[in-house]
Amino acid sequence: MFLSSLARSLKGRANDLWLNIGTAGTAPAESVGHVYYATISYRCIRSLLDSLDLSHDDRFVDVGCGKGRVVCLAARHRLSRVTGVEYSTTLANEAKRNSERMRGRKSPVQIHCKPAEDFDYSDSSVLYFFNPFEAPLLDSVLQKARADRRDRPLRMAFVMESPAQRDVFARHTWLSCYNRFEDIDHHLVAFYRNS
Ligand SMILES: C[S@@+](CC[C@H](N)C(=O)[O-])C[C@H]1O[C@@H](n2cnc3c(N)ncnc32)[C@H](O)[C@@H]1O
Repeated sequence: MFLSSLARSLKGRANDLWLNIGTAGTAPAESVGHVYYATISYRCIRSLLDSLDLSHDDRFVDVGCGKGRVVCLAARHRLSRVTGVEYSTTLANEAKRNSERMRGRKSPVQIHCKPAEDFDYSDSSVLYFFNPFEAPLLDSVLQKARADRRDRPLRMAFVMESPAQRDVFARHTWLSCYNRFEDIDHHLVAFYRNS
């Protein structure tokens, strides 16, 4: 157990080094009620991005991007734009620094330091969530994404969906779940789309 988590952490740091970024480890929440930062393994993110069938027209958003590991890996695909939204100033600055210095960027990147519930989703075609908030806030963000997108295509990947978050998605009948599986590190991953 200890050895496998050590090996995972070393792999994360080695991938960070290779990409010339710093995203490993966790970071405590800045304020009461805020969520702490954690991320998933490079191999899980890579296979999840492959499952999303990204194309050069896509505008990808990591909702609650933390230090930007997913932003940087998405930006190694040739997309229209990659965006990170993050309410912690410290983490948003780290994500910005990482996206500027990363090796092999093929897409423009923007980092917005703001709450996900205030972000304008009108220009976003793919949303990625790694369990950034509880069900009530997820509900508000989905309502906002729907209003902003006005029926234009939108797909989403949600990592570590809880039963309460799954219920929220089920109530958003404008979204259908088109894939759900346990990834190689046993995270539940669900994919949704509106068309
Ligand atoms: C579990 S971490 C995931 C980080 C990143 N998406 C990744 O997979 O590497 C969740 C992140 O969401 C951010 N977050 C939580 N609630 C947020 C909100 N309402 N608006 C913006 N960011 C938020 C946290 O600060 C944290 O960095």
